[in-house]
Amino acid sequence: MTKRIAIIGAGPSGLAQLRAFQSAAKAGAEIPEVVCFERQSDWGGLWNYTWRTGLDEHGEPVHSSMYRYLWSNGPKEGLEFADYSFEEHFGKQIGSYPPRAVVLDYIEGRVKKAGVRDWIRFCTAIRMVSYDEAKGTFTVTAHDLTADRMYSEGFDHVIVASGHFSTPNVPEFPGFATFNGRVLHAHDFRDAMQFKDRDILIVGTSYSAEDIGSQCWKYGCKSVTVAHRTAPMGFDWPDNWTEVPILTHVDDDTAYFKDGTSKRVDAIILCTGYKHAFPFLPDDLRLKTRNRLATADLYKGVAWVHNTRLFYLGMQDQWFTFNMFDAQAWWVRDVIMGRISIPADKAVLMKDVTDRVAAEDAGQDAHDAIHYQGDYVKELIAETDYPSFDVDGACEAFFAWKDHKKANIMTFRDNAYRSVITGTMAPLHHTPWKDALEDSMESYLKS
Ligand SMILES: Cc1cc2nc3c(=O)[nH]c(=O)nc-3n(C[C@H](O)[C@H](O)[C@H](O)COP(=O)(O)OP(=O)(O)OC[C@H]3O[C@@H](n4cnc5c(N)ncnc54)[C@H](O)[C@@H]3O)c2cc1C
Ligand SMILES: NC(=O)c1ccc[n+]([C@@H]2O[C@H](COP(=O)([O-])OP(=O)(O)OC[C@H]3O[C@@H](n4cnc5c(N)ncnc54)[C@H](OP(=O)(O)O)[C@@H]3O)[C@@H](O)[C@H]2O)c1
Repeated sequence: MTKRIAIIGAGPSGLAQLRAFQSAAKAGAEIPEVVCFERQSDWGGLWNYTWRTGLDEHGEPVHSSMYRYLWSNGPKEGLEFADYSFEEHFGKQIGSYPPRAVVLDYIEGRVKKAGVRDWIRFCTAIRMVSYDEAKGTFTVTAHDLTADRMYSEGFDHVIVASGHFSTPNVPEFPGFATFNGRVLHAHDFRDAMQFKDRDILIVGTSYSAEDIGSQCWKYGCKSVTVAHRTAPMGFDWPDNWTEVPILTHVDDDTAYFKDGTSKRVDAIILCTGYKHAFPFLPDDLRLKTRNRLATADLYKGVAWVHNTRLFYLGMQDQWFTFNMFDAQAWWVRDVIMGRISIPADKAVLMKDVTDRVAAEDAGQDAHDAIHYQGDYVKELIAETDYPSFDVDGACEAFFAWKDHKKANIMTFRDNAYRSVITGTMAPLHHTPWKDALEDSMESYLKS
């Protein structure tokens, strides 16, 4: 009997899994029946922008954490698909930091070409997955949101590709309940124009903090104050930026910081990260991990050590993204198709996890972390037929990117890098990022 495979989520990770199976079928292999369940009405995951916040049209939590005017925060040369280059998609080489709509178009291009849309059940939220030890199969309970109908089906394997940057981590600080301005999490940030001429306070120091602050600066906010818990970001910020220690409390219009200083602000944006959240998984199947490069409990970063018929994609913190999801998806496909075997001894699986944690912990800095994740990508693709590519070259693009940010945080997106897939150099974009207020795909792709 043909195996049945359930994929939860049609974001970049789930789509990588669909493409992995389709490429095996194209090469003549007999593949299992694949069903992908996607809660949203379209594919693309986080890249599928919505104006909505809170709950969507079906009363489901809004998935996307992306905002208008978001441009890739790392060079596209670090994420390019090895089997589908930017040049193949756009018919020419394009700039290195494309806006969200351009990235989404590229993601879609590969799966449209593969013809896998029919494998996806859209507007279908997974409510529960359970495992029957005796039968060795999963029961997946889905909610067809359009028909408002719940149903269950059996599967031999489940692949969780539901992302982990959607459920916000929302700390509370004393005084929030009576603050007269707006308090929001980055997950609900949509349009920097709302903060034009406003004084904003950002809490957190990672990518959301850096990028949302930069967006607000670009679109004309009055000042940006960034409060850090651990350490300041330390970039050479524009004159209207200040970095301060963590806030202690707020009153009706002022934030007070640990060093005794204070600032009147109009809005507080909590850029305090996300939680891995799988409300559709019972305790025996649910991953609990910190956001790090070596996750808990996943053999080779993907197979659930407590039941290796269950897989997770893309659960790591991410330097590499699309090409890493591909490496994982091809590897998972080959396990399911019997081309790769997973050791039966659980102690071996656990040792793989602890070795990866130790190797990540042995790194000293971001440079080591990038190499660490690059080596992981290499390890997986060496075991499958995913097209080999110059992973070290992609690491080089990340190192150059880090240097460009250090040199000038507001101009790093004005640089260009060489594709490790086609070997061609990206053109310099026609307009500096800070002046490119109109960022539609049409205007970005103009030569
Ligand atoms: C603000 C922001 C900006 C980012 N910018 C970049 C960038 O510039 N470059 C980069 O490479 N990466 C970026 N990322 C990282 C991002 O994680 C990846 O690019 C990518 O989107 C991850 O893909 P994914 O498929 O693993 O998860 P997601 O994109 O989160 O997709 C998961 C999918 O699963 C679906 N789903 C969830 N729960 C269920 C359920 N119960 N039932 C059915 N379907 C479900 C969701 O609807 C969604 O479509 C960014 C992340 C954030 C938050
Ligand atoms: N343009 C873009 O492409 C773009 C834009 C935004 C985000 N992203 C992506 O989105 C993903 C998530 O990034 P993120 O920045 O949202 O999350 P993150 O990287 O997990 O960072 C979370 C931040 O929140 C801080 N924090 C957490 N709890 C806190 C608390 N109680 N008080 C104070 N500070 C607290 C952390 O501080 P400590 O250091 O003290 O722990 C850290 O600075 C990344 O993959 C990133 O690349 C991309």
